[in-house]
Amino acid sequence: MALSGLIFIGYVLAHMYGNLKVFAGQDSFDEYAHHLREFGEPILPYEGFLWIMRVVLLLALVVHATAAYKLWARAAAARGQKYVVKKAAVATLSSRTMRWGGTALLLFVVFHLLHLTTHTINPGGDPESPYTRMVDSFAPENWWVSVVYLLAMAALAMHLRHGTWSAAQTLGLTNTPAQRHAWNLAGYALALVVAGGFALVPLAALFGIVD
Ligand code: HEM
Repeated sequence: MALSGLIFIGYVLAHMYGNLKVFAGQDSFDEYAHHLREFGEPILPYEGFLWIMRVVLLLALVVHATAAYKLWARAAAARGQKYVVKKAAVATLSSRTMRWGGTALLLFVVFHLLHLTTHTINPGGDPESPYTRMVDSFAPENWWVSVVYLLAMAALAMHLRHGTWSAAQTLGLTNTPAQRHAWNLAGYALALVVAGGFALVPLAALFGIVD
């Protein structure tokens, strides 16, 4: 879980940073989207880098989801029978958030691909300009699209916060109080930077800061 999670962390950091190009204007953003497809040419074919990334992400997703399912099943088996009195301990609360939050993020990724990759949901904007396709779809008249994204970013923040902590624990990095404090802070910082950075784009389009 920790290693596939690290792949996702690298991806969301890079993706969020790339999205901020929207603030540099239409030409800059469209150039960036175009460059992603030409990256690595002529050693790689057109869109070669994109396809490598897609395969790596898909493999990471299979590993992450399989590991999550196994942990879920192991926890259920270890408990043996359902508690007579169910009391939410801190650990079960955060693990529940991870499971349902992770499931929500998976649904969001499906929505996101249907929205901005295949343009099945809310098609519009200039087909030649990824900038207009994205900014138009977050415009005030499509406020519900921004709401879906902002809710997903809240789920992403919680998942990253707890995931960073769990990964550090798995890798044996939380043995001293100072280490625990540092990893706790790292989880909050990562959640804030990634989810906050992503959220800036729909918010800016919704409030007309970019159009
Ligand atoms: C406000 C948040 C986000 C915005 C505005 C956004 C925007 C975009 C855009 C514009 C594309 C199309 C890029 C292109 O084809 O040139 C894209 C693709 C993609 N995004 Fe996001 N994204 C956001 C959040 C996320 C998150 C949180 C994840 C993962 C958890 C994610 C995963 C992906 C994936 C997997 C693709 C498809 C890449 C491909 O195979 O072509 N995105 N996103």
